Amino acid sequence: MPFPNNFVWGAASSAYQIEGAFDADGKGRSIWDDFCELPGAIRDGQDGRVACDAYHRFSEDVRLLKEMNLSAYRFSVSWPRILPAGTGSVNEKGLAYYDSLVDLLLENGITPYMTLYHWDLPSALQKKGGWLNRAVCEAFAEYASVIAKHFDGKVRHYITLNEPQCALSLGYELGTHAPGLKLPVEDQLQCMHNMMLAHGLAVKALRKESSCPVKVGIASTGTLYYPVTDTPENRQTAYEASFSLKPDGWFFSHCWCLDAVVLGHYPEASPDFLRKFSNGVPESDWNIICQPLDFVGANIYHGTPIDVHGNVVLLPKSLPRTATDWPITPEILRYGPRWLYERYGLPVIITENGISCKDTMHSDGQVHDADRVEFLRRYLKELEKTVDEGTAVEGYFHWSLTDNFEWEYGYTQRFGLVYIDYPTQRRIPKDSSVWYGRAAESNGKHLHQ
Ligand code: BGC
Repeated sequence: MPFPNNFVWGAASSAYQIEGAFDADGKGRSIWDDFCELPGAIRDGQDGRVACDAYHRFSEDVRLLKEMNLSAYRFSVSWPRILPAGTGSVNEKGLAYYDSLVDLLLENGITPYMTLYHWDLPSALQKKGGWLNRAVCEAFAEYASVIAKHFDGKVRHYITLNEPQCALSLGYELGTHAPGLKLPVEDQLQCMHNMMLAHGLAVKALRKESSCPVKVGIASTGTLYYPVTDTPENRQTAYEASFSLKPDGWFFSHCWCLDAVVLGHYPEASPDFLRKFSNGVPESDWNIICQPLDFVGANIYHGTPIDVHGNVVLLPKSLPRTATDWPITPEILRYGPRWLYERYGLPVIITENGISCKDTMHSDGQVHDADRVEFLRRYLKELEKTVDEGTAVEGYFHWSLTDNFEWEYGYTQRFGLVYIDYPTQRRIPKDSSVWYGRAAESNGKHLHQ
């Protein structure tokens, strides 16, 4: 069975990673502006002050999306561009930037998928404790209301939070991302719970302030397992492993987040510290957190093979890996969405999937990224299989539209379909963008040519 006719073919980005213009037109500071100033925090002392200068060059990026025949663009709004102090006075110039972007997308028949939070918390709120302070949840709801009112009728697809798992584990447990904290586990749990509350309040605000129906989801991530043999028994062990929380690395799991927002509780099979925390959560909090959602967004890059006995299977040393040293495991786009659909009963959207390669400009001035083309072909074929097996997958967003600021790795990792020549900011479509454009235009038929 081919991809359904209304399947969404898109590309994704996030504000801090592409916009630059870090202090333009009244924008407030974010925790990433602050974190990048810490010596040693970012590879080569880089930062996102200029990034891809998308703030000034977004029309080129929309043209590239159009050339690729993509029907949707997932981007995030910089919260401190809209509310420089996190709450209170609204920066009209910030809204005007996103108006121009959204209007141009709509003129070109490209549906905006707007993410509210892709990790750039206003510094003013971090000074008040950041995600550790429950007041931030109300601030997030206020921000969501401003956005929903302003973009009413234009934006109809929202993603509340991008990867709470990474925001928390990297930012609040390991300290490798902004705000660079290493909090004790009790505080990590409080941050987690506050993020879940913020999500729930934002969903309510988005629906309340929009006069037309909007589709709302969250972009989750975490370890997912796939069976080494496609038997019902091995599928079962892979499913169970994907939704079991281990005391170490528990943050990098879909289930604490998606069980909370979709099922209305933290996972029953949890490490002691989470169970204890969970027992103290009042019902009134669950009434906020668990709001009806329209889709589950899943950021899936690679998976872990497991056998029928539940043992992790070592990947062969010869298996190709990405430039970030992630294993290339296309099977996960068949099984990962399946597990999420089975557990949560909501349509799944792949909100991110992609590969970092050592891309260079060749002597013909082009970027021949054969590895990314191969990655796309293999992963998308697996996605097609899960669609064929009846998994409701509504869309696929490639990470990323352009190369960009890859957090602590600075500009050393290139994930784009489009190459950025940083000294000139010239955008050069890579071979993969042509290939992916054909896949989109043919609604997947090109995967088999
Ligand atoms: C994040 C992106 C990031 C990508 C590649 C995801 O975890 O949402 O911001 O660039 O992975 O590392």
